[in-house]
Amino acid sequence: MSHLLHLDASARPASISRSLGARFADRWRLHNPAGDYRYRDLAADPVPLISPGWTAICDELLRRGITEPARYAEVVDTEARRAAWAVCAPLLAELLAADLVLIATPMYNFGVPAALKAWIDQVTFPRMTLPGTRFVVLSARGGSYRPGTPRAEVDHQERYLRDFFAGHFGVTDATFVAAELTNSLVDPRLAEQSEAHRRSHAAALAEIDRLTAPDSLVELAKTAAS
Ligand SMILES: Cc1cc2nc3c(=O)[nH]c(=O)nc-3n(C[C@H](O)[C@H](O)[C@H](O)COP(=O)(O)O)c2cc1C
Repeated sequence: MSHLLHLDASARPASISRSLGARFADRWRLHNPAGDYRYRDLAADPVPLISPGWTAICDELLRRGITEPARYAEVVDTEARRAAWAVCAPLLAELLAADLVLIATPMYNFGVPAALKAWIDQVTFPRMTLPGTRFVVLSARGGSYRPGTPRAEVDHQERYLRDFFAGHFGVTDATFVAAELTNSLVDPRLAEQSEAHRRSHAAALAEIDRLTAPDSLVELAKTAAS
């Protein structure tokens, strides 16, 4: 059975990344009626920042050379660690159960929102790997960061997430889809970019439809199983 973990991270209710994520998830659920679907709104229901108890767990795992998530609970033996573990264990269990993680996120300040970063900090432990887990990132950004554009070099969002998935989870095949130039919808001075935004948004929707077509989902599942 397939497990989809769907994360939203935009502070804006009428958000473009939310709508991209909803489209992906709706289509995935249509084609996986028996699949397990978990949803978290990291903006509306933020996970806490990691605490001293969390860092104590992390340090103790390193000290004892424990790398299997199933053994993490062995080092949860103080009040502070128990409190930290009560927050992070359900988040970690959701991530470990997922074979597809869908992250719908805005670009904030060239990177990821603090709400998403807080989740990443909670669920990431030393020498963890997630073999076969697929990550799909659907992003909305006010400007354009496509290769060849002046701001391409400062897309620290995709760059960061690619490096993070590879360096901490051993996942090198994450999929990224972006709807760009969304600021043209709200800033009258950027009105001349609205046609380029419309094209970018339409291309993102088409890519989501391609990724969630039954054949592509079979491919995603095969990759996850391999
Ligand atoms: C706090 C904040 C920081 C932002 N920083 C950037 C940025 O660095 N680059 C950019 O292109 N857009 C930036 N934007 C614009 C958002 O990326 C844009 O509004 C996007 O559509 C937000 O996603 P959403 O529609 O899913 O909320 C920022 C918006 C906010 C609220």
